[in-house]
Amino acid sequence: MNARDVRDELLGQHAALRTQIARTRGDIEAWSRGELESLQMRKEVDDLSSAMRKHNLREEELLGDMFRLGDGRDPGRVIMDDRHRDEHAELNTALALKGAAMDVEPAAWEFVMKQLLEQLLEHMTNEEKFFINADVLRDP
Ligand SMILES: [Fe+2]
Ligand SMILES: [Fe+2]
Repeated sequence: MNARDVRDELLGQHAALRTQIARTRGDIEAWSRGELESLQMRKEVDDLSSAMRKHNLREEELLGDMFRLGDGRDPGRVIMDDRHRDEHAELNTALALKGAAMDVEPAAWEFVMKQLLEQLLEHMTNEEKFFINADVLRDP
């Protein structure tokens, strides 16, 4: 797989995730107004959690390959590091746990869930800025 295909695949997944995050955000508000069943809300968070986990695994796989391809000779090519993997693990865990805790304290849940959605968006924006772009993610 060349660098362009990797970029296209990951950016395509980011676009889909942004749409899913926006929908989840709107539904959190609907749920908070009592317009959406908890069961449906939970399912939506679970779906987002699965999609994000799947994307992160794929990203680690693809960027890990690109890193090996780059052979570490050019520091600009270090695109999947342990810190990034740790952040994936944290976000995946947070998302999975948040889905389970929604009925305990609804107002707090709404608040932390929205914060988490912001973190997910920020993670993607940062990696597009630093890794997933034509300057860094390129063929050797
Ligand atoms: Fe990432
Ligand atoms: Fe990503």
